[in-house]
Amino acid sequence: MEYSVKSGTPEKQHSGCLAVGVYTGNKLSDAAQQLDEVTGGAIKQILRRGDHGGKPGQTLLVHNLPHSPSERVLLVGCGKEKEFHEPRYREVTAAAIGALKNTGATEVTSYLTDLDVKGRDVLWKLRHAVEVTEAALYRFDRLKKKNGEDENRRALKRMILAVGSRSDLQPGELAVKEGLAIAAGMRLAKDLGNLPPNICTPAYLAEQAVELARQYGLKSTVLEEAQMRELNMGALLSVARGSHQPPRLIVLEYRGGAEHEAPIALVGKGVTFDTGGISIKPAANMDEMKFDMCGAASVLGAIKATAELKLPLNVVGVIPATENMPGGQASRPGDVITSMSGQTVEILNTDAEGRLILCDALTYAGRFNPALVIDIATLTGACVVALGGHASGLFANNDQLARELLNAGKYTWDRAWQLPLWEDYQKGLDSNFADMANVSGGRDAGAIIGASFLARYTKDYKWAHLDIAGTAWKTGKEKGATGRPVPMLTQFLIDRARKESAPSE
Ligand code: BES
Ligand code: MN
Ligand code: ZN
Repeated sequence: MEYSVKSGTPEKQHSGCLAVGVYTGNKLSDAAQQLDEVTGGAIKQILRRGDHGGKPGQTLLVHNLPHSPSERVLLVGCGKEKEFHEPRYREVTAAAIGALKNTGATEVTSYLTDLDVKGRDVLWKLRHAVEVTEAALYRFDRLKKKNGEDENRRALKRMILAVGSRSDLQPGELAVKEGLAIAAGMRLAKDLGNLPPNICTPAYLAEQAVELARQYGLKSTVLEEAQMRELNMGALLSVARGSHQPPRLIVLEYRGGAEHEAPIALVGKGVTFDTGGISIKPAANMDEMKFDMCGAASVLGAIKATAELKLPLNVVGVIPATENMPGGQASRPGDVITSMSGQTVEILNTDAEGRLILCDALTYAGRFNPALVIDIATLTGACVVALGGHASGLFANNDQLARELLNAGKYTWDRAWQLPLWEDYQKGLDSNFADMANVSGGRDAGAIIGASFLARYTKDYKWAHLDIAGTAWKTGKEKGATGRPVPMLTQFLIDRARKESAPSE
């Protein structure tokens, strides 16, 4: 989709379609009001006849309104004006696209961007308009024989985003640029997540990372098994043992900042399929364990967005990629392995494999002397139980870092919720035979125990852990990767870049 920003009132627009909001209680938005006046009350009449009640997401397409130079007008229900907040704005924008993609309109001039969202400015509204629109148009049909659109259908190609005044044009343009970069990062993350596990293997992930590096002139390094052995990555290798697919450790370096500036490290769990290994998972929904590399995909997505925006930062992505399979060489419950850090781990459950591959990747990330490290992982089912699909679990050994991530999540509506990382939880990982076990005995506080394991490998730097088990994909009829938390991560980096380039206080 192509986007442009325009100021000007709706009744003067020559557009294929105008999208305007109407609230419940026959209350018109400013744009709808202006159209109503010039069309001799046509819109109020529609509401009075009961053809549109203003319910959130309800749409009605009207043709040839008198005295309007636009071909169509789409009335979009916005609910109660008083309740028009962030999620409503996003819902309404998506509903408009949903209605228009099945019409002949090839362009839309949206006045939904001119609606008041409490506490949010033009930049926010246009950013979300672009992100929501791109998400509504996303489709993963490359593996279907008859893919693509119905040839007779004229697809929506252009979106003109209306703003209130000329001074809004500049923030509007920035919003489009940032929105498109984030949407491109999300698309990459979704595509990789949605690809089946027989295609999206560790080697495939590495190829995609190398391709990304080629596109944007990044440095890429891909370590293979022999190099992992040299580095003593016993934890990562113990997970890979059960699979015929060889593991990869993927490293991408984006250098937009000063040469000697410490990089921000993003570490993403890349289990391309998680059977559980010898501690095998039940059959129901096991296909969804192809999404167990969504942390890795979000790292690639965030780096893509960062490179698109040319942010003045140094960012390094580290992705341990492997399958978790129950082969003849697979790790057994009871095995003790030595991680790259030198700490030993008793593997009591081979299904707690994410923390094993991450601990070595986190140790490896330390080699870059990072300013901070964020790992992103579909780590625990317990996190889904705790927070569902709305918030990612956030853990951090630094409060300032946690706050920055929480704020980035709020701004992008890709939210996280912080859980404790208290020392008290550490004894859950005690082992009689090694420095630690990879699971605790019981089912209590599973997400925190997972994070507590990682905390033992991240003492040397500022670190945050995002458990995205509930947010990275949707199940059921809408099954598919969400592209989260690319928006949160990218916003975090945008905010950091703004701070860096601002004159010091
Ligand atoms: N990839 C899973 C976590 C997961 C499970 C994410 C279900 C989303 C939905 C992870 O590797 C795993 O299996 N974790 C175990 C940990 C347990 C053995 C301590 C889990 O959550 O059951
Ligand atoms: Mn597992
Ligand atoms: Zn897993």
